[in-house]
Amino acid sequence: MRIKYTISLVFIVALVIIEKENNIISKVSDKLTLKQTPQTPLQPKNNSSSTQLQRQNGPSSSSEKSDSAFRHMKRRLENFTEISKENKSPLAGGKKHILLLATTRTGSSFVGEFFNQQGSNMFYLFEPLWHVERMLTLETGGTNATASGPAYRDVLRQLFLCDFSLLESFIEPLPRDHVTAALFRRESSQALCEEPVCTPFVKKVFERYHCRTRRCGPLNLTLASQSCQQKEHRAIKTVRVRQLETLRPLAEDPRLDVRFIQLVRDPRAVLASRMVAFSSKYQNWKRWANDGDVPEDDDEVRKLKGNCDNIRMSAEVGLKQPAWLQGRYMLVRYEDIARYPMRKAAEMYQFTGIPFSPKVKEWILKNTQASKEASGVYSTQKNSSEQVEKWRFTIPFKLAQVVQRVCGPTMSLFGYRFAETREMLTDKSISLIEERSFL
Ligand SMILES: *[C@@H]1O[C@H](CO)[C@@H](O)[C@H](O)[C@H]1NC(C)=O
Ligand SMILES: *[C@@H]1O[C@H](CO)[C@@H](O)[C@H](O)[C@H]1NC(C)=O
Ligand SMILES: *[C@@H]1O[C@H](CO)[C@@H](O)[C@H](O)[C@H]1NC(C)=O
Ligand SMILES: *[C@@H]1O[C@H](CO)[C@@H](O)[C@H](O)[C@H]1NC(C)=O
Ligand SMILES: *[C@@H]1O[C@H](CO)[C@@H](O)[C@H](O)[C@H]1NC(C)=O
Ligand SMILES: *[C@@H]1O[C@H](CO)[C@@H](O)[C@H](O)[C@H]1NC(C)=O
Repeated sequence: MRIKYTISLVFIVALVIIEKENNIISKVSDKLTLKQTPQTPLQPKNNSSSTQLQRQNGPSSSSEKSDSAFRHMKRRLENFTEISKENKSPLAGGKKHILLLATTRTGSSFVGEFFNQQGSNMFYLFEPLWHVERMLTLETGGTNATASGPAYRDVLRQLFLCDFSLLESFIEPLPRDHVTAALFRRESSQALCEEPVCTPFVKKVFERYHCRTRRCGPLNLTLASQSCQQKEHRAIKTVRVRQLETLRPLAEDPRLDVRFIQLVRDPRAVLASRMVAFSSKYQNWKRWANDGDVPEDDDEVRKLKGNCDNIRMSAEVGLKQPAWLQGRYMLVRYEDIARYPMRKAAEMYQFTGIPFSPKVKEWILKNTQASKEASGVYSTQKNSSEQVEKWRFTIPFKLAQVVQRVCGPTMSLFGYRFAETREMLTDKSISLIEERSFL
């Protein structure tokens, strides 16, 4: 039920702009975005994939096209269980599997880079579940958690085992001979753009997602799988998993040694950020801010609440440290990363049991310090602190109050202090972040 709402939210917001969204995560990662991940095309390639149709028509439209696409998807998934049982890898053997769990606009792309930049030891994937969500939203306009939960879990499991076959069944168009030009944000994964996965460039093949640091041929997933097997560790970032609990089988899988890192952020800041980034989607909020009351039973408000509850419940499971999660869960706040990126990165590495490499340190230094090319825009740690509280001056007090009402328990859990008055909201001398240690 909670998942239900979230997926539809993701559907409404995400299908059209998810890629854009990933490009505007935070001030900290704006710099990263400029350097590493130039804008991806916002329009899907022009042909009649029914997902595209869905994008245009919205989730509730049901047309012949989407019906046929749904059948097509189901056919592909016929072998779903079969495939996921086939894989028989040896035990983890010292390899670590890191899952970075977040929601949008929490700086997850930036934190993902902590692992992507690790060096030749790491096989990192950026939002592979994008494909799964995209395929499964066809079914009911994005409301079936029963289907997506297990699908996310099984795809993640396979990917951690370096097996792309299940993911392949979700990629549109279906890869041929395990080769695809359409793996979402391939360029955000170093391992997919380096030798030997980077094959010679092929002219005249349209590649929706292609490496940017160098020219490569379409992605050969067999090569990707081999590269994955050769790397010591694997990390995946996702904003799509709603409930940590659904991933329990991964924690208990003897072939894996999983570490979950959940990244959270002050929901007031998330709302403020979304209102800027997805302006047109937040017209209601803007209207509420300007006139009259916020209807608490409004869909949008319910979504916000559902989102907060999801995040909180996952964190509650994690922080309780049940036996299956012993030593496998870490909670990290966006605000702490923005203020103390190096320290937090070191803590994350310590938690994962992987050495904190000089390459990562260097990358963090480079990407959190003012650099001349970055148009003089500051982003040192001190200035990141300022950045972290900037939302306080953009969010209307009335909306901050709404968030505090519906996300109260979530905020309390993470140490986000309520602004009792308009003055308190914008009083810089009062911090709204309690110092907390969740380790
Ligand atoms: C898509 O292709 C059709 C022809 O196949 C063309 O009429 C239409 O304008 C194209 N749409 C876009 C957005 O490029
Ligand atoms: C669109 O895809 C169909 C097959 O699904 C193909 O027959 C058609 O030529 C394609 N059109 C374009 C413009 O690529
Ligand atoms: C499912 O597996 C069977 C046999 O292994 C195969 O013939 C069939 O084509 C597969 N279906 C799909 C949709 O891949
Ligand atoms: C959701 O998916 C499950 C599993 O695929 C299916 O059995 C169920 O009927 C679906 N529910 C709805 C409401 O579509
Ligand atoms: C992909 O790579 C594998 C492993 O090197 C190779 O055997 C296969 O032929 C490649 N596929 C294509 C279509 O080039
Ligand atoms: C941080 O920002 C302040 C302005 O708020 C500026 O005066 C200061 O020079 C910046 N620090 C660095 C190291 O860029």
